[in-house]
Amino acid sequence: MLSPSNITDPELLALASKILADSGFDIRQYKERPLKRRLAVRMRSCQVNSYEEYQQKLKDDPGEYAKLLDTLTINVTKFYRNAETYLTVFDRVLPIILNESTTRPVQIWSAGCSSGEEPYSLAIMWKEFSESRGLIKECNIYATDIDLRILEKAQAGVYPRSSMDEIPRNLIEKYFEARNDKYHISPRIKDMVQFEKLDLFSRYPFREVDLIFCRNVLIYFSRQTQEDIFYKFAQALRAGGFLVLGKVENMFGQMKDTFVSFDVKERIYRAVK
Ligand SMILES: C[S@@+](CC[C@H](N)C(=O)[O-])C[C@H]1O[C@@H](n2cnc3c(N)ncnc32)[C@H](O)[C@@H]1O
Repeated sequence: MLSPSNITDPELLALASKILADSGFDIRQYKERPLKRRLAVRMRSCQVNSYEEYQQKLKDDPGEYAKLLDTLTINVTKFYRNAETYLTVFDRVLPIILNESTTRPVQIWSAGCSSGEEPYSLAIMWKEFSESRGLIKECNIYATDIDLRILEKAQAGVYPRSSMDEIPRNLIEKYFEARNDKYHISPRIKDMVQFEKLDLFSRYPFREVDLIFCRNVLIYFSRQTQEDIFYKFAQALRAGGFLVLGKVENMFGQMKDTFVSFDVKERIYRAVK
Protein backbone atom coordinates (compact mmCIF):
# COMPACT_ATOMS: atom_id res chain seq x y z
CA MET A 1 0.00 0.00 0.00
CA LEU A 2 1.02 3.61 0.35
CA SER A 3 4.10 4.76 2.15
CA PRO A 4 3.30 5.61 5.79
CA SER A 5 4.49 9.20 5.83
CA ASN A 6 6.57 11.98 4.40
CA ILE A 7 5.80 14.24 7.38
CA THR A 8 8.56 15.08 9.83
CA ASP A 9 6.82 17.32 12.39
CA PRO A 10 5.76 15.05 15.33
CA GLU A 11 2.83 17.30 16.40
CA LEU A 12 1.50 17.29 12.87
CA LEU A 13 1.95 13.52 12.72
CA ALA A 14 -0.17 13.12 15.86
CA LEU A 15 -2.91 15.25 14.30
CA ALA A 16 -2.67 13.25 11.06
CA SER A 17 -3.08 9.96 12.98
CA LYS A 18 -6.23 11.25 14.65
CA ILE A 19 -7.71 12.41 11.32
CA LEU A 20 -6.87 9.04 9.73
CA ALA A 21 -8.43 7.08 12.62
CA ASP A 22 -11.60 9.22 12.71
CA SER A 23 -12.27 9.81 9.03
CA GLY A 24 -10.04 7.43 7.02
CA PHE A 25 -8.50 10.49 5.31
CA ASP A 26 -4.69 10.24 5.18
CA ILE A 27 -3.34 13.79 5.10
CA ARG A 28 0.20 12.37 5.49
CA GLN A 29 0.28 11.74 1.74
CA TYR A 30 0.16 15.47 0.92
CA LYS A 31 3.29 17.59 0.55
CA GLU A 32 4.20 18.86 4.00
CA ARG A 33 4.67 22.59 3.39
CA PRO A 34 1.46 23.25 1.43
CA LEU A 35 -0.38 20.98 3.90
CA LYS A 36 0.79 23.15 6.80
CA ARG A 37 -0.26 26.31 4.97
CA ARG A 38 -3.79 24.97 4.41
CA LEU A 39 -4.11 23.67 7.96
CA ALA A 40 -3.10 27.13 9.16
CA VAL A 41 -6.09 28.57 7.28
CA ARG A 42 -8.50 26.26 9.14
CA MET A 43 -6.75 26.83 12.47
CA ARG A 44 -6.99 30.60 12.11
CA SER A 45 -10.63 30.31 11.28
CA CYS A 46 -11.21 28.11 14.38
CA GLN A 47 -9.06 30.47 16.49
CA VAL A 48 -6.69 27.76 17.66
CA ASN A 49 -2.91 28.08 17.83
CA SER A 50 -1.51 24.56 17.85
CA TYR A 51 -2.10 21.20 16.18
CA GLU A 52 -3.00 19.85 19.60
CA GLU A 53 -5.76 22.45 20.04
CA TYR A 54 -6.97 21.73 16.51
CA GLN A 55 -7.25 18.02 17.43
CA GLN A 56 -9.49 19.05 20.30
CA LYS A 57 -11.56 21.21 17.92
CA LEU A 58 -12.06 18.19 15.62
CA LYS A 59 -13.19 16.18 18.63
CA ASP A 60 -15.68 18.82 19.81
CA ASP A 61 -17.02 19.69 16.34
CA PRO A 62 -17.07 16.76 13.87
CA GLY A 63 -18.50 19.18 11.24
CA GLU A 64 -14.99 20.63 11.06
CA TYR A 65 -13.88 17.57 9.04
CA ALA A 66 -15.88 18.67 5.98
CA LYS A 67 -14.37 22.15 6.19
CA LEU A 68 -10.87 20.68 6.48
CA LEU A 69 -11.40 18.45 3.44
CA ASP A 70 -12.72 21.45 1.54
CA THR A 71 -9.59 23.44 2.36
CA LEU A 72 -7.22 20.61 1.45
CA THR A 73 -8.81 19.74 -1.88
CA ILE A 74 -8.53 22.33 -4.64
CA ASN A 75 -11.47 21.94 -7.03
CA VAL A 76 -10.55 24.38 -9.82
CA THR A 77 -11.39 22.92 -13.24
CA LYS A 78 -13.09 23.70 -16.57
CA PHE A 79 -14.36 22.06 -19.77
CA TYR A 80 -11.59 21.14 -22.24
CA ARG A 81 -8.97 22.47 -19.82
CA ASN A 82 -5.75 22.84 -21.88
CA ALA A 83 -7.73 22.20 -25.07
CA GLU A 84 -4.57 21.24 -26.99
CA THR A 85 -4.30 18.09 -24.84
CA TYR A 86 -7.82 17.05 -25.88
CA LEU A 87 -6.89 17.70 -29.54
CA THR A 88 -3.86 15.43 -29.24
CA VAL A 89 -5.87 12.71 -27.51
CA PHE A 90 -8.56 12.98 -30.21
CA ASP A 91 -6.08 12.83 -33.11
CA ARG A 92 -3.46 10.40 -31.82
CA VAL A 93 -4.71 8.43 -28.81
CA LEU A 94 -8.34 7.57 -29.60
CA PRO A 95 -7.50 5.95 -32.99
CA ILE A 96 -5.05 3.61 -31.20
CA ILE A 97 -7.57 2.81 -28.47
CA LEU A 98 -10.19 2.05 -31.09
CA ASN A 99 -7.79 -0.24 -32.98
CA GLU A 100 -6.74 -2.09 -29.87
CA SER A 101 -10.08 -2.43 -28.11
CA THR A 102 -11.61 -5.63 -29.36
CA THR A 103 -15.22 -6.46 -28.63
CA ARG A 104 -15.50 -4.82 -25.21
CA PRO A 105 -16.56 -1.23 -24.52
CA VAL A 106 -13.83 1.41 -24.22
CA GLN A 107 -13.09 2.31 -20.59
CA ILE A 108 -11.95 5.79 -19.55
CA TRP A 109 -11.29 6.97 -15.98
CA SER A 110 -11.15 10.58 -14.84
CA ALA A 111 -9.32 10.34 -11.48
CA GLY A 112 -9.81 13.50 -9.38
CA CYS A 113 -12.74 14.64 -11.54
CA SER A 114 -13.83 17.59 -9.34
CA SER A 115 -17.20 19.05 -10.43
CA GLY A 116 -17.41 16.91 -13.59
CA GLU A 117 -16.10 19.20 -16.34
CA GLU A 118 -13.26 16.77 -17.16
CA PRO A 119 -15.26 13.51 -17.46
CA TYR A 120 -18.06 15.26 -19.37
CA SER A 121 -15.43 16.72 -21.74
CA LEU A 122 -14.10 13.18 -22.25
CA ALA A 123 -17.62 11.91 -22.99
CA ILE A 124 -18.15 14.74 -25.51
CA MET A 125 -14.78 14.00 -27.09
CA TRP A 126 -15.67 10.30 -27.46
CA LYS A 127 -19.07 11.14 -28.99
CA GLU A 128 -17.43 13.49 -31.49
CA PHE A 129 -14.77 10.91 -32.31
CA SER A 130 -17.24 8.06 -32.86
CA GLU A 131 -19.52 10.31 -34.93
CA SER A 132 -16.62 11.38 -37.14
CA ARG A 133 -15.92 7.71 -37.86
CA GLY A 134 -19.51 6.58 -38.13
CA LEU A 135 -18.99 4.21 -35.20
CA ILE A 136 -21.40 2.86 -32.65
CA LYS A 137 -19.02 1.78 -29.92
CA GLU A 138 -19.87 1.82 -26.26
CA CYS A 139 -17.66 3.89 -23.97
CA ASN A 140 -17.87 3.85 -20.17
CA ILE A 141 -16.46 6.81 -18.31
CA TYR A 142 -15.70 6.44 -14.61
CA ALA A 143 -15.28 9.68 -12.71
CA THR A 144 -13.97 9.64 -9.16
CA ASP A 145 -13.07 12.15 -6.47
CA ILE A 146 -12.52 12.10 -2.73
CA ASP A 147 -14.90 15.01 -2.18
CA LEU A 148 -18.58 13.97 -1.94
CA ARG A 149 -19.85 17.54 -2.03
CA ILE A 150 -18.11 18.22 -5.35
CA LEU A 151 -19.40 14.91 -6.76
CA GLU A 152 -22.98 16.01 -6.05
CA LYS A 153 -22.30 19.13 -8.12
CA ALA A 154 -20.84 16.97 -10.88
CA GLN A 155 -23.90 14.75 -10.93
CA ALA A 156 -26.19 17.77 -11.25
CA GLY A 157 -24.36 18.73 -14.47
CA VAL A 158 -25.22 22.46 -14.36
CA TYR A 159 -22.46 24.98 -15.09
CA PRO A 160 -21.74 28.71 -15.34
CA ARG A 161 -20.45 30.23 -18.60
CA SER A 162 -17.07 30.80 -16.92
CA SER A 163 -16.29 27.07 -17.00
CA MET A 164 -16.58 27.05 -20.78
CA ASP A 165 -13.95 29.39 -22.16
CA GLU A 166 -11.81 26.57 -23.61
CA ILE A 167 -14.47 24.28 -25.08
CA PRO A 168 -15.23 24.95 -28.80
CA ARG A 169 -18.43 26.95 -29.26
CA ASN A 170 -20.05 24.39 -31.60
CA LEU A 171 -19.74 21.77 -28.83
CA ILE A 172 -21.49 24.07 -26.35
CA GLU A 173 -24.39 24.44 -28.76
CA LYS A 174 -24.52 20.70 -29.42
CA TYR A 175 -24.15 19.28 -25.91
CA PHE A 176 -25.61 21.88 -23.52
CA GLU A 177 -28.94 23.51 -22.98
CA ALA A 178 -28.82 27.12 -21.75
CA ARG A 179 -31.42 27.95 -19.09
CA ASN A 180 -31.40 31.01 -16.81
CA ASP A 181 -27.73 31.83 -17.36
CA LYS A 182 -26.69 28.24 -16.64
CA TYR A 183 -25.63 25.47 -18.97
CA HIS A 184 -27.17 22.02 -18.48
CA ILE A 185 -25.22 19.07 -19.85
CA SER A 186 -27.22 16.95 -22.27
CA PRO A 187 -28.66 13.68 -20.88
CA ARG A 188 -26.92 11.59 -23.57
CA ILE A 189 -23.54 12.81 -22.25
CA LYS A 190 -24.59 12.51 -18.62
CA ASP A 191 -25.59 8.88 -19.15
CA MET A 192 -22.07 7.96 -20.27
CA VAL A 193 -20.47 9.02 -16.97
CA GLN A 194 -20.56 7.10 -13.68
CA PHE A 195 -19.52 9.12 -10.64
CA GLU A 196 -18.11 7.44 -7.53
CA LYS A 197 -16.31 8.51 -4.40
CA LEU A 198 -12.75 7.16 -4.41
CA ASP A 199 -9.72 8.21 -2.41
CA LEU A 200 -6.62 7.86 -4.60
CA PHE A 201 -4.72 6.70 -1.49
CA SER A 202 -6.94 3.59 -1.32
CA ARG A 203 -7.34 0.50 -3.58
CA TYR A 204 -8.70 1.02 -7.08
CA PRO A 205 -11.63 -1.09 -8.33
CA PHE A 206 -10.77 -0.64 -12.03
CA ARG A 207 -8.94 -3.02 -14.39
CA GLU A 208 -8.27 -3.04 -18.14
CA VAL A 209 -8.80 0.71 -18.42
CA ASP A 210 -7.86 2.18 -21.84
CA LEU A 211 -7.26 5.77 -20.76
CA ILE A 212 -6.77 7.50 -17.41
CA PHE A 213 -6.94 11.28 -17.09
CA CYS A 214 -5.41 12.35 -13.78
CA ARG A 215 -4.62 16.02 -14.16
CA ASN A 216 -3.79 18.65 -11.58
CA VAL A 217 -4.29 16.20 -8.72
CA LEU A 218 -0.91 14.53 -8.05
CA ILE A 219 0.87 17.87 -7.80
CA TYR A 220 -0.43 18.19 -4.21
CA PHE A 221 0.94 14.78 -3.11
CA SER A 222 4.41 13.88 -1.83
CA ARG A 223 6.81 12.41 -4.36
CA GLN A 224 6.65 8.93 -2.77
CA THR A 225 2.85 9.01 -2.85
CA GLN A 226 2.87 10.07 -6.51
CA GLU A 227 5.13 7.14 -7.29
CA ASP A 228 2.84 4.69 -5.45
CA ILE A 229 -0.12 6.06 -7.42
CA PHE A 230 1.70 5.66 -10.75
CA TYR A 231 2.20 1.96 -9.96
CA LYS A 232 -1.46 1.57 -9.05
CA PHE A 233 -2.49 3.32 -12.29
CA ALA A 234 -0.27 0.88 -14.20
CA GLN A 235 -2.19 -2.00 -12.60
CA ALA A 236 -5.54 -0.43 -13.48
CA LEU A 237 -4.57 0.11 -17.13
CA ARG A 238 -4.53 -2.57 -19.81
CA ALA A 239 -1.18 -3.26 -21.50
CA GLY A 240 -0.50 -0.21 -23.65
CA GLY A 241 -3.22 1.83 -21.89
CA PHE A 242 -2.73 5.61 -21.72
CA LEU A 243 -2.20 7.96 -18.76
CA VAL A 244 -2.61 11.71 -19.20
CA LEU A 245 -1.22 14.01 -16.51
CA GLY A 246 -1.65 17.77 -16.01
CA LYS A 247 0.65 20.31 -17.61
CA VAL A 248 2.39 20.88 -14.27
CA GLU A 249 2.96 17.17 -13.60
CA ASN A 250 5.62 14.72 -14.72
CA MET A 251 6.41 11.04 -14.60
CA PHE A 252 9.64 10.38 -12.69
CA GLY A 253 12.69 8.79 -14.32
CA GLN A 254 12.53 5.63 -12.24
CA MET A 255 9.05 4.82 -13.60
CA LYS A 256 10.47 4.12 -17.05
CA ASP A 257 10.02 0.34 -16.74
CA THR A 258 6.34 0.91 -16.02
CA PHE A 259 5.44 3.76 -18.38
CA VAL A 260 6.89 5.09 -21.64
CA SER A 261 6.38 8.61 -22.83
CA PHE A 262 3.96 8.99 -25.76
CA ASP A 263 3.75 12.79 -26.03
CA VAL A 264 6.17 14.81 -23.91
CA LYS A 265 4.45 18.17 -24.35
CA GLU A 266 0.97 16.90 -23.49
CA ARG A 267 2.23 14.63 -20.67
CA ILE A 268 0.80 11.46 -22.22
CA TYR A 269 2.27 8.09 -21.19
CA ARG A 270 1.61 4.42 -22.04
CA ALA A 271 1.71 1.52 -19.59
CA VAL A 272 4.36 -1.09 -20.35
CA LYS A 273 3.35 -4.64 -19.43
C1 LIG B 1 -7.66 20.82 -9.19
S1 LIG B 1 -8.88 19.56 -9.22
C2 LIG B 1 -8.54 18.82 -10.80
C3 LIG B 1 -9.78 18.58 -11.61
C4 LIG B 1 -9.52 18.07 -13.03
N1 LIG B 1 -8.79 16.82 -13.01
C5 LIG B 1 -8.79 19.09 -13.86
O1 LIG B 1 -7.61 18.94 -14.15
O2 LIG B 1 -9.43 20.09 -14.24
C6 LIG B 1 -8.19 18.37 -8.07
C7 LIG B 1 -9.22 17.35 -7.57
O3 LIG B 1 -8.51 16.30 -6.89
C8 LIG B 1 -9.31 15.84 -5.81
N2 LIG B 1 -8.49 15.12 -4.81
C9 LIG B 1 -7.62 15.64 -3.92
N3 LIG B 1 -7.10 14.66 -3.14
C10 LIG B 1 -7.66 13.49 -3.57
C11 LIG B 1 -7.55 12.12 -3.18
N4 LIG B 1 -6.76 11.76 -2.17
N5 LIG B 1 -8.28 11.20 -3.84
C12 LIG B 1 -9.11 11.57 -4.87
N6 LIG B 1 -9.27 12.84 -5.29
C13 LIG B 1 -8.56 13.79 -4.65
C14 LIG B 1 -9.91 17.14 -5.27
O4 LIG B 1 -11.07 16.90 -4.50
C15 LIG B 1 -10.18 17.94 -6.55
O5 LIG B 1 -11.51 17.81 -6.98
